[in-house]
Amino acid sequence: MSAVVETSRLTKRYRDLVAVNDLNLKVEEGEIFGFLGPNGAGKTTTILMLLGLSEPASGQAKVCGFDPTHQPLEVKKRVGYLPENPGFYDDLSGRENLFYIARLNRIPADEARRRITRLLEQIGLGDDGERAVREYSRGMKQRLGIAEVLIKEPQALILDEPTLGLDPDGASRILDLITGLSRERGLTVLLSSHMLHQVQQMCHRVGIIVKGKMIAQGQVDQLGSAVFKERQWNFLVEVEGRVDGLESDLRALHGVAGLEARNRGWFLRCTRDVRPEVLALVSRRGLALLQLRSEDTTLEDIYLKYFREA
Ligand SMILES: Nc1ncnc2c1ncn2[C@@H]1O[C@H](COP(=O)(O)OP(=O)(O)OP(=O)(O)O)[C@@H](O)[C@H]1O
Ligand SMILES: [Mg+2]
Repeated sequence: MSAVVETSRLTKRYRDLVAVNDLNLKVEEGEIFGFLGPNGAGKTTTILMLLGLSEPASGQAKVCGFDPTHQPLEVKKRVGYLPENPGFYDDLSGRENLFYIARLNRIPADEARRRITRLLEQIGLGDDGERAVREYSRGMKQRLGIAEVLIKEPQALILDEPTLGLDPDGASRILDLITGLSRERGLTVLLSSHMLHQVQQMCHRVGIIVKGKMIAQGQVDQLGSAVFKERQWNFLVEVEGRVDGLESDLRALHGVAGLEARNRGWFLRCTRDVRPEVLALVSRRGLALLQLRSEDTTLEDIYLKYFREA
């Protein structure tokens, strides 16, 4: 495997703000990498440096083997970039917008037409290609943006918040589309998002950035154990019937570090397996147990831990 995107101590300052701080990032060929972090964390700033659109204060980046600061055109040839707010010619149709981008990329007209027809189909705009973009919904525009990025058949995609402003269904369609493309064509994808839940399933690896610092990087299922010094156990407890006093009993159990009320029960964060004690408590009160389920550490747990500590 070779890295398609790699940065070494990449740093960007805006006056006295360090927007990106000593960032080491690595995205391997063919993988989908989720670049995750809250608003203002430094995701867009990093992406702009990867494309040579912003100059680092120090550190280096390599994208497809080129230094974006010194060889931005080489990077641009190989990487499809979807900005946070892609712009279109609103009076032109989706097809015409794509044709315009194809011309900019010097794709011969016949070849461009073939690609555009195929792409419109692929992104689910097959029936809307002739409509003016002005009439497109947000989700349709986002899909058109992805088509624009794909038309030059890039080696890698850099997508800045590709699900921004989309409803859950629209977002999951976009993410499915990206996953499919990556699988079919072996495309390398770096996508930024502040929506952890949405993207964590589709990413091979993620990096979490908070206040310009990469705080964790790796496979989602392995990040938890790397980040939490002691193993964290999460349980969902649901009971039927009267529950007076049960909550305080659960909270008082040795090993229960946190408790949140849920629909018919509680979500427990624990430092050990407390299931036997929970079972005993519930049955002592003569309540019916509806669920006692363990839940994996989510990316959100990791993110919140750092977010709170940062
Ligand atoms: N041109 C600029 N001049 C000054 N400060 C900037 C500039 N661009 C970004 N910043 C600051 O740098 C920090 C990182 O911003 P950035 O846009 O990279 O965050 P982000 O992770 O993309 O956030 P979001 O999820 O909101 O898109 C923020 O504090 C922001 O205010
Ligand atoms: Mg951003």
